[in-house]
Amino acid sequence: MERIKQHAIWGHKGTFVLAATGSAVGLGNIWKFPYITGENGGGAFVLMYLVFIALIGVPVMIAEVLIGRHGRANPVGAVSKMARQSRVSPLWSAIGWSGVIAAFLILSFYSVVAGWALDYMSTAIQGGFTGWNGDSASTAFDELLADPLRLMLWQTLFIGMTVLVVVFGVTKGLETAVRVLMPLLFLLLLMLLVYAAVAGDFMRGLQFMFSFNPADLSWKAASVALGHAFFTLSLAMGAIMAYGSYMPGKTSIGKMVLTVAALDTLVALVAGLAMFPIVFATPGISPGEGPGLMFISLPVAFGNMPAGVLFGAAFFILVTLAAWSSTISLLEPCVAYVTERFGVGRVKANMVIAALAWLLGIGSVLSFNRWAEFSGLFGMNIFDFLDFFTQRVMLPLGGLLMALFVGWVAKRELLRHELRQESDGQFRLWLALLKYVCPPALLVILLAGILA
Ligand code: PFF
Repeated sequence: MERIKQHAIWGHKGTFVLAATGSAVGLGNIWKFPYITGENGGGAFVLMYLVFIALIGVPVMIAEVLIGRHGRANPVGAVSKMARQSRVSPLWSAIGWSGVIAAFLILSFYSVVAGWALDYMSTAIQGGFTGWNGDSASTAFDELLADPLRLMLWQTLFIGMTVLVVVFGVTKGLETAVRVLMPLLFLLLLMLLVYAAVAGDFMRGLQFMFSFNPADLSWKAASVALGHAFFTLSLAMGAIMAYGSYMPGKTSIGKMVLTVAALDTLVALVAGLAMFPIVFATPGISPGEGPGLMFISLPVAFGNMPAGVLFGAAFFILVTLAAWSSTISLLEPCVAYVTERFGVGRVKANMVIAALAWLLGIGSVLSFNRWAEFSGLFGMNIFDFLDFFTQRVMLPLGGLLMALFVGWVAKRELLRHELRQESDGQFRLWLALLKYVCPPALLVILLAGILA
């Protein structure tokens, strides 16, 4: 394949929204958000999360898309270009580097967890949850984690599915995939919501998620909420920057970003509203179950509810699709970087990066069984370390540097030009949030994340 000279552009106006929403909506929304809401008390946590999405997530996302679209290049190339044009040190391109590296690292372990969803999907389709109780569900989950070959099988399949899309390129691969996956995902989610309303204890779920108790407001909950706001919007990992670089020049970045943030939040809330009523309807399981909420409590609930086989299968298909559109967005920035920087063809770049991510992923697979005792990485195993390092260190640090770079360092005319569709007032509001609100908040989560 010859060197890619022209940077691709999405073929349809709305593709950025679909693709970025696909990146944003993932295990974070369906697996993590409901269980951290459960652990951190419900309504107060949800409120903090919403405030952080609006005041910090949205401005940083606009900055990230703006750098990508302005640069029309992979994350490293795009940040370098803006630094050059603003006549500042090329060292700022570390923001792009950190994004690509974080994307790669996350891809390696995210595919492992996504693999669990594939395993559960196959169990659900075969009607395997029928009659499960708390004990048998915990045993089933432990058995899965204890079996490295079974984990590797699903991890390999998941990376393969991701490559299958990314290898076809921006318009033929990614664009086609998100145009099919996203409507399907929304449809499944809606179906599950209706099911939860009919078969679950909907009022209790609603009350749990939205009843506000000031005693639940805490620093710890705030730092979890802010960290999650960033993770769920896929910020500071190159993904949104890469997708922004394919956005047509005529589109308003502000409108697109607000739509993505709103859809991502809506999906997280609806996922909670679909899961908690089902959990509350089943005696003996609770919403504060932690990471096992989705893999232990829910299968028990589905296994004991009317039409649970059908809806249990639909649920795990939903999780798989959501995770798939996210891993696609993790592989893409790495592939874009390698093809543009080294002039390597897309197929080769895909194969090499996917193989390396797969190999590193085996370290995460083994963290649950053979290497479970290993704690040589600051007291953590490989999986826990990668999760910690990307989410608690790289993500807030990348976000902080991005807010400082775009807010304080980059040339103002470049920013205004890229945000030409926005009014003066909107532009000023955005810049003020980025300059004065985002950096201190991100510094606090960075410190809280490292020291806590
Ligand atoms: N936003 C995704 C989720 O909530 O599951 C995770 C993610 C995808 C993070 C892509 C970062 C990324 F670049």
